[in-house]
Amino acid sequence: MISDSNPRANGGRSSVPAGAAAKGGDQPVPGSEAPYAIEVEHIVKKFGDFTAVDDVSFNVKEGEIFGLLGPNGAGKSTLIRMMTTLIPITAGKARIAGHDVAREPNQARRMIGVIPQALTSDLDLTVEENLHIYAKLYDVPKKERERSIAELLEVVDLTKWRDAQTKTLSGGMRRRLEIARGLVHHPRIFFLDEPTTGLDPVSRVSVWEMLGNIKSQRQLTILITTHYMDEADRLCDRIAIVDHGKLVALDAPMALKASVPGSTVIEAQFENPPDDWEKRLHTLDDATSVQHEGAGMYRILTGNGSRTTTELVEMAVVAGVGVKSLTVQNTTLDDVFVHYTGRQLRDELQKAHAFVMPQRPGLRP
Ligand SMILES: Nc1ncnc2c1ncn2[C@@H]1O[C@H](COP(=O)(O)OP(=O)(O)OP(=O)(O)O)[C@@H](O)[C@H]1O
Ligand SMILES: [Mg+2]
Repeated sequence: MISDSNPRANGGRSSVPAGAAAKGGDQPVPGSEAPYAIEVEHIVKKFGDFTAVDDVSFNVKEGEIFGLLGPNGAGKSTLIRMMTTLIPITAGKARIAGHDVAREPNQARRMIGVIPQALTSDLDLTVEENLHIYAKLYDVPKKERERSIAELLEVVDLTKWRDAQTKTLSGGMRRRLEIARGLVHHPRIFFLDEPTTGLDPVSRVSVWEMLGNIKSQRQLTILITTHYMDEADRLCDRIAIVDHGKLVALDAPMALKASVPGSTVIEAQFENPPDDWEKRLHTLDDATSVQHEGAGMYRILTGNGSRTTTELVEMAVVAGVGVKSLTVQNTTLDDVFVHYTGRQLRDELQKAHAFVMPQRPGLRP
């Protein structure tokens, strides 16, 4: 079930947005052959004593773009690996187009295309050879193979690179090649594990545009994991937020944002604020939460952006505290993450990326 182990996550409010639990556990539509592309019921994955995925349930509708959003180590890849038959499930069930992945793995596999988190195309082969190998592996008939590869090269904008060795491609182009490769056998359900992590912003946009094109041309359900809240917000029909192996919220991006009290975020940086500044900011009318982000920066959620901004500036003037910067924007999925977990997703990612590999003994810095 969707659960909420963190006491800060709901502050006494319901931790799951309206309809979220019901959506996660919808009953199949009577008379429909495969009402959901993906059904996950109380799925658990343990590695020894460690629980990487902890009782997660959700359904993905046919034709949906469904996002799994969460920090490093949340359990996103482990979930994908269970759903795509790559690792055994410890407890619970996953069904792909109605096929139980544990009991009917081959039938489930025939329905899916998978782009793993690590890049796996063969660097010494050309772009086209990489696609051919996969098409053969999936027994795509020869005639169909040529047509499908030509069409996919066009879709991922690599036609003029078809004879280039894969090692000469940029990261974004390689990702696009892998996406084409995952589609050569016309899967119905496409799993992509962080297809845009590590790409520059331009390549990220082109990967997403391409996914949108592919989806409009083919009958495809897409399950995608990402760290990028802006991407998830713009492109996913529904988003499941995962944290420490648990599903903490699930709904359409708009509904998730609407579930957070306060519709506007004010970020303000002050010059030498007094020690009790956070406490004073809490007294602003309409402010639903105040977070100190360090270096004099505060993030305030409010139900009335203009009134709180005016009051905030007045409060600073009266207290003789300088305002260094001030931005006002709508709530983001980051605020949703904070609301349900008590932490900021971007902080979690920074922590993970700030990790420095220890030196191996004998190696000089
Ligand atoms: N084979 C394994 N053996 C032991 N622990 C594992 C194994 N695979 C994953 N884990 C642990 O399970 C947790 C979830 O890992 P997972 O890779 O699913 O996270 P993730 O959400 O995909 O993270 P990232 O965003 O970094 O890719 C992590 O704590 C990870 O260390
Ligand atoms: Mg992962």
